[in-house]
Amino acid sequence: MDINDRLRRPLRDLRISVTDRCNFRCHYCMPADIFGPNYDFLKKNMLLSFEEIYRLAVVFRKTSGIKKIRITGGEPLMRKDLPILIEMLASIDGIEDIAMTTNGSLLPKYAKALKEAGLHRVTISLDTLDNRRFKKINGRDVSVDTVLKGIDAAEEAGLGIKINMVVQKGINDSDIVPMAEFFRKKGHVLRFIEYMDVGNSNGWKLDDVFPKKAIIERINGVMPIEPIDPNYTGEVATRYRYKGTDEEIGIISSVTDAFCSTCNRSRLSAEGKLYTCLFASKGHDLRGPLRNDASDADMAKIITNIWSNRNDRYSEERTEHTKRSSKIEMSHIGG
Ligand code: GTP
Ligand code: 5AD
Ligand code: SF4
Ligand code: SF4
Repeated sequence: MDINDRLRRPLRDLRISVTDRCNFRCHYCMPADIFGPNYDFLKKNMLLSFEEIYRLAVVFRKTSGIKKIRITGGEPLMRKDLPILIEMLASIDGIEDIAMTTNGSLLPKYAKALKEAGLHRVTISLDTLDNRRFKKINGRDVSVDTVLKGIDAAEEAGLGIKINMVVQKGINDSDIVPMAEFFRKKGHVLRFIEYMDVGNSNGWKLDDVFPKKAIIERINGVMPIEPIDPNYTGEVATRYRYKGTDEEIGIISSVTDAFCSTCNRSRLSAEGKLYTCLFASKGHDLRGPLRNDASDADMAKIITNIWSNRNDRYSEERTEHTKRSSKIEMSHIGG
């Protein structure tokens, strides 16, 4: 029951954003001068309810055979009662993997409840171990220690853990090696993400990107690494291990080594729009039909139609110049 798009890519991964709000203001994602006190966040009645998300997830499962769901935001833990949604999604027959991307700050409060609800793993974002730099990046004076406590809470709760570090040239590239050493010792997989031109607010320039090749060189200079095979087709991170060990890192190189040819990810925004690419300018409204009595069969038809017509490959087509003012913000579809 695979649905293939126009470039013959199956639909495998459903990423669900549950809120467009966040308690951080990372300058590359929600710069504080744009996402200020008067910013027009989604109102409660615009958000898909847990029942609506559950219903769509069931239809996705039945229509496309997806087995993996990732919960994103904004910061997903800003959504009230999130463990209830996790429990609902975990009850769906055939959903084998539920993960969440989070900034970690609220994990001390929720990690245990999330695990008990059926969450398998978390990916926690952390760009540096230097407090001064971190506070500048997160725009909210949050200390590194707050996130480290979140990581520890996830570990205690028994959740799988990966760490995401967005690398920006001249901002935190000097943190590559310290981060690698720290998380190698801690036993967590660290993934370096090339800074991307998502959204329209971050003022991205190609020159701000610290390329995959340079990341590898930096690490190789201190702790030699070698490539390893992907865990599954379409994995975004290319994997490496420290030579002679099974300790692993990953690099996500959307800019200098794009991976659109195997991209099987769909993204549902908190207001119920389906996006077929991280860089899309338009989503397809699913909330409208859902609230207008569409049957499951109708919803399945709509989703099949959207995916079958998909031909996105933004990162492969990207030039030095990003498209301005026409892309969905990262905080709406969660990366
Ligand atoms: P695993 O299930 O652990 O393999 O994780 P994942 O591959 O779903 O990765 P995750 O959601 O942690 O993605 C890490 C980051 O990679 C995201 O936050 C994005 O910044 C970037 N990323 C993920 N998917 C895509 C994609 O389809 N296109 C682009 N350009 N970047 C992506
Ligand atoms: N480029 C690369 N990664 C980004 N993220 C947010 N904005 C960007 C960007 N412009 C990352 C976050 C988090 C995940 C949701 O995406 O750090 O790990
Ligand atoms: Fe919030 Fe994550 Fe965006 Fe930072 S990158 S503002 S933590 S959603
Ligand atoms: Fe998929 Fe779009 Fe990312 Fe390419 S740029 S990998 S099509 S989400």
